[in-house]
Amino acid sequence: MKKRVLSGIKPTGDVHLGGYLGAMREWPKYQSSENEVFYFIADLHALNARPTASELRTKTLDLVAWLLALGIDSERNPIYLQSQIPEHSELCWLLNNFVTMGELSRMTQYKDKAQKSGSEGQLVALFTYPVLMAADILLYGADEVPVGEDQTQHVELTRDIAQRFNGIYGRELLKLPKFTHPAHSARVMMLDDPARKMSKSEGGDGCVYLMDPQEVIDRKFSRAVTDSEGVVRFNKQDQPGVSNLLEILAAVTGETIEVLEQRFAGNGYGDFKKAVAEAVIEELAPIQAEFARLRKDEAYLLEVLTRGKDRVASEAREKLAELKQVIGLV
Ligand code: TYM
Repeated sequence: MKKRVLSGIKPTGDVHLGGYLGAMREWPKYQSSENEVFYFIADLHALNARPTASELRTKTLDLVAWLLALGIDSERNPIYLQSQIPEHSELCWLLNNFVTMGELSRMTQYKDKAQKSGSEGQLVALFTYPVLMAADILLYGADEVPVGEDQTQHVELTRDIAQRFNGIYGRELLKLPKFTHPAHSARVMMLDDPARKMSKSEGGDGCVYLMDPQEVIDRKFSRAVTDSEGVVRFNKQDQPGVSNLLEILAAVTGETIEVLEQRFAGNGYGDFKKAVAEAVIEELAPIQAEFARLRKDEAYLLEVLTRGKDRVASEAREKLAELKQVIGLV
């Protein structure tokens, strides 16, 4: 039987090197005759960031173009929108009955925000975010979910929910997924603050966007925060900035950290940063060109989404109908 691989990305802000190296870069690699790959755009998940309508639409179509530019063959593998398959939301509601406030309160995304600014003002959608994510995964019986490290907790909760549901109804109705992370870049950190996970930043130099021009990428890496040790060495504790750059370089070049440490032994950080920037620029250049070409043709991007929806809709419908019947919804 074919292995089903599924993952999603939110259309909030611009795609950055963290999301790319932590997840998206891996996605095309799963395309083979042994796998069925489903990639979708989690537009409902994006709503808690309160995007404007035009922003949401633009970022959604941007993502379709990026996924195609990365080499996802949409003729074979569906690319679809979460909001176009209503069963995601409906299953989320059903699963809300199999997860507790305690479990959701421990999810770091919510917990961090609640700790910072109190729980009163947090949106319900942020709180129940992981339940919709569980629905995204369980609706299609995914075996494997390639994601960055920050999503581990959500996939683990998905397994717990599935196990609980199966336990209550006495058979394996929901498949327990496993997550996978890339070897080096499961958690890419900000270049200007290696204690923080890379995420979009307003105007800062810490986040590298996939569509940054070459000179901007070069500048951001040249300003990356390092340390005063002066040695290119992997040590996350004492040299988090340098270690982050080493991981980025290892992810992009496919070389091991040890080989890279040896290559830059005795060199200053300047040369090292330059090499990382160059490797990233070289990696992104063809993808950026392909993105620019594809992004112009919105009709085609919409066609890709329709094709994706047509491919997955009936399966989603059937799975939900099965679950509703088991639950006793007439
Ligand atoms: P999102 O849109 O925040 O991020 C998309 C993917 O990129 C990874 N990622 C990173 N990896 C390494 N370092 C970083 N700095 C970094 N930043 C982002 C994320 O781990 C993710 O894999 N909840 C998901 C979207 C989603 C989903 C799903 C994923 C919704 N339903 C079902 C898998 C299965 C999210 O917010 O991803």
